[in-house]
Amino acid sequence: MKNGKIIELVDAVKVYKNGVTALDHVSFSVEPGEFVFVVGESGAGKSTLIKLLTCEERVNSGVVFLDGYDLAKLPRRLVPFLRRRVGMIFQDFRLIEGKTVFENVAFAMEIIGTQPEKIKRRVPLVLSQVGLRTKMNMYTDELSGGEAQRLGIARAIVNNPSLILADEPTGNLDPSNGEAIMALLECVNQEGTTVIACTHDKSLVDRMTKRVVEFSNGKLIRDACHSTYSETFSCSDDPGRYSVKPGEIPDEFDDREQSAGNIAQNVQIRIPQVKEIEKYMLDSHKHRTNRRLGRQKYYDETCQQDSGEEY
Ligand SMILES: Nc1ncnc2c1ncn2[C@@H]1O[C@H](COP(=O)(O)OP(=O)(O)O)[C@@H](O)[C@H]1O
Ligand SMILES: [Mg+2]
Repeated sequence: MKNGKIIELVDAVKVYKNGVTALDHVSFSVEPGEFVFVVGESGAGKSTLIKLLTCEERVNSGVVFLDGYDLAKLPRRLVPFLRRRVGMIFQDFRLIEGKTVFENVAFAMEIIGTQPEKIKRRVPLVLSQVGLRTKMNMYTDELSGGEAQRLGIARAIVNNPSLILADEPTGNLDPSNGEAIMALLECVNQEGTTVIACTHDKSLVDRMTKRVVEFSNGKLIRDACHSTYSETFSCSDDPGRYSVKPGEIPDEFDDREQSAGNIAQNVQIRIPQVKEIEKYMLDSHKHRTNRRLGRQKYYDETCQQDSGEEY
């Protein structure tokens, strides 16, 4: 990881073939474990930023690092491996129709070659985390919008990604379901996963008072910590760096932090029990060990089949 940063953009420029400059000399960075809202009007460049990070698009100039990898230099055949460290959440959920809730999450594990036994143990655990354990055998068309997006989150976190990229995750939900989804993302973040959420949802951004990175016409125009959707309190003159450090946060922000915590309490999200978290961590450890042991075999087998074109 370059300088300990999970994401770093240095003077990144993205111009589409039609001549539109979607990102215009953008520089900022994200530390592991941060929760960052990316805001801005439609067409500001938010989704383009996400697409650069998933290697769906590449910069014309400048550099994008993800987990220390310079994405412009990453061979295409290795793109799927990097994507597996990233969980994606979409506005339109993108669930697999005709599969059950369990099967949708299981599929995300199957495609990376997880053993069936492990899938059977892990999927119910993750579905518990998002409050869908009792709906394991339902089909996706039987779910409400809020449930569908919780399933989207379960699928995104099941392989223990270090980063969650959410593009308008509450865009198709009513306010209370939107709150539940953001509260859940906050829980995921509190367990150590970095979360980047692009959103138009002013009231949620205002209530959660996280770091806000704002784009306008492809330019980064604000990078502020503990901020609101249109607040001008700035963290730093140097984009990507905090000027207000932990411990220096003014008292007035304590109440705002409290209100963000209240979101999690007020919505019906079940926070995992300690035992579940311990088991989850043990599972993660075993997962990493298994992957280390099988890495060469896994690489040889999967690299041949995985063209890098599909996510
Ligand atoms: N594939 C594409 N080809 C050409 N122009 C695009 C493409 N995707 C996005 N754009 C343009 O790039 C700009 C930024 O788009 P986007 O990143 O989707 O913004 P946002 O997600 O903030 O709404 C817009 O002007 C949009 O029309
Ligand atoms: Mg968009």
